[in-house]
Amino acid sequence: MSRIVLFENIHPSATEVFRAAGFNDIVAHGAALPPEALAHALQGATLAGIRSRTHLDAALFAALPDLRAVGCFCIGTNQVDLDAAMTRGVPVFNAPFSNTRSVAELVLGEAILLLRRIPEKNARVHQGYWDKTADGAFEARGKTLGIVGYGNIGSQVGTLAEALGMRVLFHDVEAKLPLGNARAVPSLKKLLAQSDVVTLHVPGGKTTRNIINAAALAAMKPGAILINASRGTVVDIDALHQALRSGHLSGAALDVFPTEPKSANEPLDSPLIGLDNVILTPHIGGSTQESQENIGREVAEKLVGFLQAGATKGAVNFPEIPRQAPAGSARILHVHRNLPGAMGNLSHLMAEQGLNIVSQQLQTRGQIGYVISDVEGEVNDSVMAALRAHPVTVRCDRVVGR
Ligand code: NAI
Repeated sequence: MSRIVLFENIHPSATEVFRAAGFNDIVAHGAALPPEALAHALQGATLAGIRSRTHLDAALFAALPDLRAVGCFCIGTNQVDLDAAMTRGVPVFNAPFSNTRSVAELVLGEAILLLRRIPEKNARVHQGYWDKTADGAFEARGKTLGIVGYGNIGSQVGTLAEALGMRVLFHDVEAKLPLGNARAVPSLKKLLAQSDVVTLHVPGGKTTRNIINAAALAAMKPGAILINASRGTVVDIDALHQALRSGHLSGAALDVFPTEPKSANEPLDSPLIGLDNVILTPHIGGSTQESQENIGREVAEKLVGFLQAGATKGAVNFPEIPRQAPAGSARILHVHRNLPGAMGNLSHLMAEQGLNIVSQQLQTRGQIGYVISDVEGEVNDSVMAALRAHPVTVRCDRVVGR
């Protein structure tokens, strides 16, 4: 019996997918849990479904021998120790594309609002003033949008921006096919120097840490706008504060921060609070009903594909094997140390247990190999115990009830 434990209010579309596939033992928690309660809640779980606030570390994986896979119902996976999961034979899935449109729409909306100085005008009206002026207010049409990171989200922002009549430039560390009339710019500095609005869509991590620092901000056009809905570590916030206070930038919109509050009641700690030309949002770029529903379905389908067939296509930390039709009377999922002779050992073991291999698929990644074997013969508990006991085995499971 597979037990599925979900946290952080995952959209009901996920539960629908699990139930439709015949997995009915589902426990859903509304929030992220503190470490001890989390470990307790996951005891005996086959699958864990989390979002960005649940941290799964190496010690937790060590304490959860029954856990077979993790679904991150979001895009980022840095809340999970992916290597620890991999070396225990646990694939981790996410939903890399489900909320790109939501982020792209927010960015465009913010670009328009900031070009028109709406945040400060809105604040003034609320304060009882009626400053009816066109000073510093511009259309988006004809302005240059500079996109840093032309991946799933960045490229979609570009397509939408062109529909508004914006000129689109992008800079990416990889060669990317431009969509529409977008143009690649060879360096970040060149992009910053030409753009009226700069929007960041790079991944987090060391290579992008503070790429928007004081020097980068100084390279931006006077009066330009900066939007960051990627990762908080990409922008040096003190330098941005300076650039806004000095008037070098006319506005900014931030959805992500170097340190983000851990709960709804905790305030954001940022020098940008109180600036009326800055839009601050609580990391909701991808948070729409549509994206949550898409994410729920996408990740649940990947998890079901793993439980029913051993499919790992789309796993972020694991050898990828797509779903294949069953060929024998049973399917065995074997994760082993990626060493010479591992496959020979497995075939030998299976033969010893009276199993005839009908079909086999192997993929390796780093320290592990993953092999799906369709076999004829009886795969009972003693066969599974023999396969698990071999030193080359990391973990071994069978697919039942396909
Ligand atoms: P992606 O992986 O499709 O695209 C990232 C692009 O950045 C790639 O083309 C990559 O080559 C490029 N890149 C990497 N380092 C770079 C550098 N130093 N300079 C220029 N380009 C560089 O990622 P995706 O899906 O478009 O997501 C982008 C960012 O948005 C990620 O940081 C993600 O975590 C964040 N995100 C934020 C959300 C929110 O709620 N605010 C929701 C979804 C994603």
